[in-house]
Amino acid sequence: MDVRKAVIPAAGYGTRMLPITKAQPKEMVPVVHKPVIQYVVEEAYYSGIKEILIITGKHKRAIEDHFDRSNLPKKDKHIEKLDRILNEVNIYFVRQREQKGLGDAVKYAEAFVDDEPFALLLGDTITIPPCTKEIIKVYERYRTSIIAVEEVPVEKVCLYGIIACKPVENSIYLVEDLVEKPSVDEAPSNLAILGRYILTPEIFDCLKNTKPGKSGEIQLTDAMRILSKKEYMYAYLFKGKRFDIGNKADWLKANIELALNDKELGEEIRTFLKLLGA
Ligand code: G1P
Repeated sequence: MDVRKAVIPAAGYGTRMLPITKAQPKEMVPVVHKPVIQYVVEEAYYSGIKEILIITGKHKRAIEDHFDRSNLPKKDKHIEKLDRILNEVNIYFVRQREQKGLGDAVKYAEAFVDDEPFALLLGDTITIPPCTKEIIKVYERYRTSIIAVEEVPVEKVCLYGIIACKPVENSIYLVEDLVEKPSVDEAPSNLAILGRYILTPEIFDCLKNTKPGKSGEIQLTDAMRILSKKEYMYAYLFKGKRFDIGNKADWLKANIELALNDKELGEEIRTFLKLLGA
């Protein structure tokens, strides 16, 4: 079966972005022209997906408002582009009742997913070019769960889910184990889960058997560990750019890099940076 559906968890607090996220969801933080979550929805859309579930929670209503059709009297070209996409996709929302971790949030997608493979895109991460499109291609060859990974410096393994794996072919690895946020000593590699996955619906049974892990939360990585023992799971080494907007330095870098590449703003920002001499 093809990947037709996407799930976007957007329920986490955004503590690393405080006080910006005191009264607004971290997924609504702007990057150049639009909030992060719009990049994520567009990534799903440009990867061929038309059915999208966003998992929200407390204080996240702005996300739902953002994806309503606009009724502005005079339209703006960015709004028109968004409206064109909204005409073609169905976006559904469900609220996580308590903040019990990413794994718990994903559980809320079970009815929506309805026994199909699905793409999972973390709502605070931007990938360029769209990583989901690439892992769907990998899924079409392997027909099982695929995780996108990237190499990170060893001192950063404690921030990510890290995999143990063996190479299969160019950029593809067979996943042998997964550990959520290990210490440098525990980390089986420096290949980090970057927030884009294709998962088989068997993940939901695994989530039901997943006990609270790191930080006392239900970790998706722990459920995927169970899944990797039941069926083959592959990792895909993504060579593009990934911005984790849940952290201030990456968020600022994303703004600078994407503004430099922007048709409207690029030149002005480039001149400004030159003047700064930074
Ligand atoms: C989550 C996942 C982790 C993954 C990371 C990617 O962690 O639990 O496995 O590597 O996203 O950003 P979080 O960043 O929400 O703490």
